[in-house]
Amino acid sequence: MIKPEAWKIHNPSGSRRVLATKRLVGERWLEVLAAFDCRVELYDAEDMFGEAELIEAIGDQCDGALGQLNEPWNEHVLTRFSAAGGKVISSYAVGVNNIDLGCASRLGIAVCNTPGVLTEATAELALALVFAAIRRIAEGDRYMREGRFLGWLPQLMLGRQITGRTLGLFGAGRIGQTVARALAGGFGMDVLYFNPHPRPELEAYVADLAEVAGRHGQPVPSIRRTTDPDELFVHGDVLVLLSSYSPQLHHLVDARRLSLMKPAAVLVNASRGPVIDEAALIAHLTTHPEFTAGLDVFEFEPRLVEGLTDRPNVVLSPHTGSATLESRSNMATLAALNCAGTLSRWPANTAVSTNELATGPLRQLVPSLLNAKELDWPLA
Ligand code: DGY
Repeated sequence: MIKPEAWKIHNPSGSRRVLATKRLVGERWLEVLAAFDCRVELYDAEDMFGEAELIEAIGDQCDGALGQLNEPWNEHVLTRFSAAGGKVISSYAVGVNNIDLGCASRLGIAVCNTPGVLTEATAELALALVFAAIRRIAEGDRYMREGRFLGWLPQLMLGRQITGRTLGLFGAGRIGQTVARALAGGFGMDVLYFNPHPRPELEAYVADLAEVAGRHGQPVPSIRRTTDPDELFVHGDVLVLLSSYSPQLHHLVDARRLSLMKPAAVLVNASRGPVIDEAALIAHLTTHPEFTAGLDVFEFEPRLVEGLTDRPNVVLSPHTGSATLESRSNMATLAALNCAGTLSRWPANTAVSTNELATGPLRQLVPSLLNAKELDWPLA
């Protein structure tokens, strides 16, 4: 149910009606939209928008929408959006699995996202989950708060080391590559990765790291690509999931693949929840107390499958991969530029880094237009 009192209007005289279903971080995004003649209708409350709320908010006339990753921009909603004159869904996220891209393209609606500016933040969170899980940080924190710490003990909260072990990486896009560089460079981990395409730049980087590490007598990392995801499960001491989501990846991590994993491995998911069969994971965490997991995303987000919170060997975080001030404010600027830019028919960016577009002087380029080809959009 939409709360009428939650609406805030920015730049009321703007001639283009832009809907923002949540308040974004910082102020620059509002300034950008106002500078390009947008009247921003901002829903300034925390309740989530489902189909009914989106349709109500779109109303009879709406030029653009700044949407969130947990909103169902499906065929039904997009049809209503198009009928209201909607030309662009500018998503405040990199993952757009909540938007029916094919349908948007058929309706001539541009779909934009915010890649690049959240790479470091999301990689850092994935790394935080690796360490929090394997070194039992959340468990230790609860132990301390409960007043159970009576003094140093040889066997208290034993975890595992990752130095010199194997990282299994599912998805070697920007974020995955950042995680791989950190773990290979910082801890001499061998990287075994699965990605639709080889990543020669990452392979060259790890080869250089290996050469430096060898010269300095440090653990020497290696890298290899596999085309068989099972290999990651068999060999990974640390398995990090960082792919974008598609229905083919539903339950990639199921009971069979979990059974391939080493008993004391750590599994981290910072991609999308349905990649893991959460019930199978709970069963595995129960029967393998040395196995640990770190989850930032959930199969039925925001609901957790029953039993998950009873497991001490899993660390949970509320989908905060990109939640740094730097990343979220740059995402906001990109989302505004994507929206203002498509409404103004700026050419789609193909060469400039999104970081530069978010932080540098204003360039009249749509930072990231996903269906530029389908819409026959001019490219820059
Ligand atoms: C995204 O942008 O897709 C991330 O999940 C946000 O944290």
